Amino acid sequence: MDGALRIAGQAMAHDSALKHCTGEARFLDDTAEPPGTLHAAFVLSGVAHGRLLAIESGPALALAGVVAILTAADIPGRNDIAPTGRDEALLATDLVEHAGQPVALVVADTREAALAGAAAVMLRIDALPPVLSIEAALAAEQLLIPPMLLAEGDAPAALAAAPHRVSGEFRCGGQEHFYLEGQVALAIPGEDRDIVLHSSTQHPTEVQHIAARVLGCDFNRVTVQVRRVGGGFGGKESNASAVAAAAAFAAVVTGRPVKLRLSRKADIASTGKRHPFLFRWEVGFDVAGRVLALDATLAADGGHTPDLSGGVMMRALTHALNACHVADVRLRGLVCKTNTVSNTAFRGFGGPQGVLLMEDVVHRVARVLGRTPEAVRAHNFAGAPNPATTPYGATLEGDLIRRVWAEARDGAEWDRRRAEIDAFNAAHPFLRRGLGSVVLAFGISFGLPHLNQAGALVHVYTDGSVRLNHGGTEMGQGLFIKVAQVVAEVFGVDLERIAITATSTGEVPNTSPTAASTGSDLNGWAAHAAASTIRERMAAVAAARWGVEPGDVQFEDNRATAGNHTLSFGELAQACYLARVSLSATGYYKTPDLDWDGATMRGRPFFYYSYGAAVAEVAVDTLTGENRVLRADLVQDCGRSLNPAVDRGQIEGAFVQGLGWLTCEELWSDPAGRLRTLGPSTYKIPGSRDVPPVFNVRMLEGPPARVPTIFRSKAVGEPPLMLATAVWNALKDAVGTDRLDLPATPERVLAAVSSLRV
Ligand code: MTE
Ligand code: MOS
Repeated sequence: MDGALRIAGQAMAHDSALKHCTGEARFLDDTAEPPGTLHAAFVLSGVAHGRLLAIESGPALALAGVVAILTAADIPGRNDIAPTGRDEALLATDLVEHAGQPVALVVADTREAALAGAAAVMLRIDALPPVLSIEAALAAEQLLIPPMLLAEGDAPAALAAAPHRVSGEFRCGGQEHFYLEGQVALAIPGEDRDIVLHSSTQHPTEVQHIAARVLGCDFNRVTVQVRRVGGGFGGKESNASAVAAAAAFAAVVTGRPVKLRLSRKADIASTGKRHPFLFRWEVGFDVAGRVLALDATLAADGGHTPDLSGGVMMRALTHALNACHVADVRLRGLVCKTNTVSNTAFRGFGGPQGVLLMEDVVHRVARVLGRTPEAVRAHNFAGAPNPATTPYGATLEGDLIRRVWAEARDGAEWDRRRAEIDAFNAAHPFLRRGLGSVVLAFGISFGLPHLNQAGALVHVYTDGSVRLNHGGTEMGQGLFIKVAQVVAEVFGVDLERIAITATSTGEVPNTSPTAASTGSDLNGWAAHAAASTIRERMAAVAAARWGVEPGDVQFEDNRATAGNHTLSFGELAQACYLARVSLSATGYYKTPDLDWDGATMRGRPFFYYSYGAAVAEVAVDTLTGENRVLRADLVQDCGRSLNPAVDRGQIEGAFVQGLGWLTCEELWSDPAGRLRTLGPSTYKIPGSRDVPPVFNVRMLEGPPARVPTIFRSKAVGEPPLMLATAVWNALKDAVGTDRLDLPATPERVLAAVSSLRV
């Protein structure tokens, strides 16, 4: 297991890389529609909060091509798409709770007719006052879930006793996922009330369950299939269900296939985003910069329903100290209910927001003491001489924290460039440069222990070709090739012999979402188990034929070999068939050693941690607030990477996505609570010119994961997003400000500059 690898661990291009570039990769909307397919469109509320009095569908029904206008009353099963079991309506009934909420579904012969029909449906809504901000929700004591508390020691007492105290407040914004492929589903009704549901989802099993709930049928009637997702980033973890369930329900009501593909505007208006947070904190520290006590409240805008907000807040709280240790801690998590779209998973799942807290604290403590944030942070790193424990009772690896930081700092030539930047700033009154950093410890595993399981199904055919299926979904992150590499490694065959297939609830059931960066950890091991079972059977057949021990049979170079005996993998597969030995197996894996009590917030929720560090340099025009990243140096711990080429892509992409969240992506709603940034013209995601011109990405050399992950690799999907926090710190350094709210748009940077001038 820990020995030399030949296929796993190789830098290989994503299996669909070429097809993505040529446009041959088929996404759901590229697949031919069955004859008779109808198209659907949501009718969305234009009002943030109000009583739904009537849905006037007459004029819309009169339009050519419109077949039906469906409302909650037409739903055969339950009008409930809640991922966590509570009531969250698919279509609004008496109350609308955010602008952009689906109220009705128009079904028509063509997509154009469906969209025209949706525009013609008149909603009569008696408006109520909306609650539109975290502050307003806190004032009204509107919470979606009970307050959460992560505490260790006695923070109030330690604060009172600390030699120095300082308090702060800041906020960060939400983020639209802006996946290139929007939310889409195609429902095809079959015989006996069966339904095949093609969905662009990260969570086929949940789509199956929710579609069945909405249809009022058994789970086994619904088969969900996903070949690839054109980007999910967490936005298709729970949010794909509404679209899929709507298509399924329309298909059942009309008896015809129904496709629902949201327009970009409808997608942005009706689906959840990253949670905006408001942070209020007080910290006690000593003259050396050691943080002794931290008391903080993290208030998130959950939107109008809980969705996954409890899990997001759990991760924010458990990541709020990041790679640092503080002895006395009290962290409160409040998930506010507002009349906005229900916020959801987004790469990092609350972790990125949590990480901001300690960085803000470190920055302020450093400013009070006249030291650098880097010195203060390092002084507080978890691990010797400080304790390595987290406030929830887990243990970090202090040596890796120090190692990623040392490599990032040295790789970035910190000392030389710090001096250079200081000299530049002394010579330039208006243009300022800044240098910032971050060090990250990100927990890997789902916060809900039961989700940490996976299944796989492997078939070997009698020509020696292999068909691989598992519960993970491919959304561009390279999961499929990584798992195929694992199977090729086990069988000792070329990667070309492994057929990668679409995820299907009919092949591998009861799966977890592909999320929390656990895709290759979980599905890699499950596929390893399935392939190993078949390999053992094949080895037994070869051993019996050759009169050797099964353990002597080696699988390498597309052959099974023992001493002078050898058969090609295909010949051995054929021999197994003739000997009536099964060449098909399932594999199952569950992450070991997890122990988490969500009520007390204590235990070991994460199997291991992924470490990273970054240094970023920015330039700021203090006359306009315009800013850009000039250089970034990243070091990411990938353990023994399963595929360094894919992992590098993940690190680069995640950093740039994080950069977008922290600097240029701003969700803006009008005073009535209608989101107005509904497309790329008003919502600025990073473009190619926002990528740092000097962008050095390195994987930490060598160290295999210290727990038995698949081939000792480490997860990479989310952690590097948080490395972009270095850009926030660099901007604060350039401006010389205590507080810089996020996103740090030119307007906010300019405001920070101006506030210093008065
Ligand atoms: N990379 C691409 N190209 N597209 C995506 O949608 N999602 C991210 C990350 N990388 C995403 C991506 C998120 S939010 C997660 S949780 C992980 O991939 C999930 O996949 P993994 O567990 O296989 O890493
Ligand atoms: Mo990722 S936010 O866990 O889908």
